[in-house]
This record gives sequence, structure tokens and C-alpha cells, in this order.
Amino acid sequence: MKPDFKTEVQQHFDERAARYDHDTETCDQQDFVNFEVVIPYLLQHGGDRILEVATGTGIVLERLLAAGKDAYGQDFSSGLLRVAETKRRIPSERLSKGDAEFLNFPDDHFDSVCVFRSLHHMDSPLRVLKEMVRCAKRSVFVYDSAGGWRRRTKKTLDALGLYQVIYSKLRGQPDSGYRPANETEGPVKVFYVEDVIPILEHERLRIVKVIRVPGNLFVHAEKRTH
Ligand SMILES: C[S@@+](CC[C@H](N)C(=O)[O-])C[C@H]1O[C@@H](n2cnc3c(N)ncnc32)[C@H](O)[C@@H]1O
Repeated sequence: MKPDFKTEVQQHFDERAARYDHDTETCDQQDFVNFEVVIPYLLQHGGDRILEVATGTGIVLERLLAAGKDAYGQDFSSGLLRVAETKRRIPSERLSKGDAEFLNFPDDHFDSVCVFRSLHHMDSPLRVLKEMVRCAKRSVFVYDSAGGWRRRTKKTLDALGLYQVIYSKLRGQPDSGYRPANETEGPVKVFYVEDVIPILEHERLRIVKVIRVPGNLFVHAEKRTH
């Protein structure tokens, strides 16, 4: 039987744990350039106690710790977390294994909660964002791929009732929203970072800043104090 999407994602990252860093450093070079813009912003505005959801091998978490933050990482792939611990020497007590849809932390436990390059691998970005908001005393930060004109075209066609018709004509079946893993990317459930903004606004957060970097957006939202 084919595993469900979440299990498929978990298995994918577990199986590739040993080569994850090599693959991302080779294939996602623009992200590393973008990190030089957005991580300093996160360090400046994220407070001291920070949770990184879906930390993977700890690429971002390592930077937060190096800057002296009281930072923690969470992920559901034990393979990737093992790399964070053994290769990056991130102490095990700063890493926790779990599903981002059910964060194992009390309300307002961190100054801020961030997620990088992961929402499009999640079954329910909405549930994950709600959990991030719950655990953050102040801010939520999201870095992910921007849909740009593709998202706008899809939305327009959808509104006209034409998207699935055209997709089916081109691909022979309707769009399920899921994309299988390939050599460079894990299984995807199509989700664009632009859609984070209305979700966080609906959760009554204020959008403080949206940083546009090539191919991606970095969104900073803050809880309202009254
Ligand atoms: C492309 S990797 C990004 C990892 C890291 N943030 C980075 O930038 O290198 C996607 C991550 O999402 C994690 N992930 C996906 N769904 C998850 C879930 N429901 N709960 C926890 N982690 C999840 C995967 O295990 C993987 O570490």
C-alpha cells in the first residue's frame, strides 16, 4: 500500500539524511545567498528564545546558536536530526522529534518561532502555522518559495472555473495538488509562501515585514498586544 503523504515525506528525508546537506548546498545555492539577508533580520528581530520548526540537519539552527540565541530545533525526521547532532554538534537537548502539526510546547513558550523551506512539504501548512502562532510569545517568521506569476495565473483560472479543465487537458488528469519527489526535492503539496500572509492575518497577527529575495519571500508577523 502507498504510504500517506506525511509518511512519504518522513521516509524521503530519513532515507536521504546522509546526503541532504550535500544536495541542498549543490542545488539550492540561491537559498544560501538569501539566508545572508534574512537570517541577520531574524537575529535582530527574533528575540532570544527561538524555535525552528522543521529544522532538518540544523543549517539555520546552527547559525542561531552561533549568534548566542537560546535556540531549539524540531523535526519529524530522526535521520536529519541525527545529522544535526553529529555533524553540527547541536546538543540533543536542543533538538526534538515530533510532528509540526502538534508542537510539544506550551503556549507562548518561545519569543519567536520560525520555519524555513518546509511548509510546502507539509500536509497542513495551516495547522503548522496555527501551532507556530500558539507557541510564539511575539513573532512568527516564514521563509519559503514564492509562487509569483504562476500562483496568480492559477488563482485567476481557478476563479474562472478553468484551472482543472486546462490542467486535465495538458496532463491527462486533474491536479491533485501533490507532486512526487524527484532527484532534488522531496514530495511536495503545492503551497506558496504568499498564502501565509492571509493565514497569519486571520490568526490576528500583524504583518511587520515581507522581504523579497530571489525565488522566495521571508515573512515576519507579530502578535498584537491588545
Ligand atoms: C526541505 S527540508 C528543510 C529543512 C531545513 N529547514 C532547511 O532549511 O534545511 C523540509 C523539512 O521539513 C520536515 N518536515 C516536513 N513535514 C514535517 C512535519 N509534519 N513535522 C515536522 N517536520 C516536518 C522534514 O523532515 C524536513 O526536515
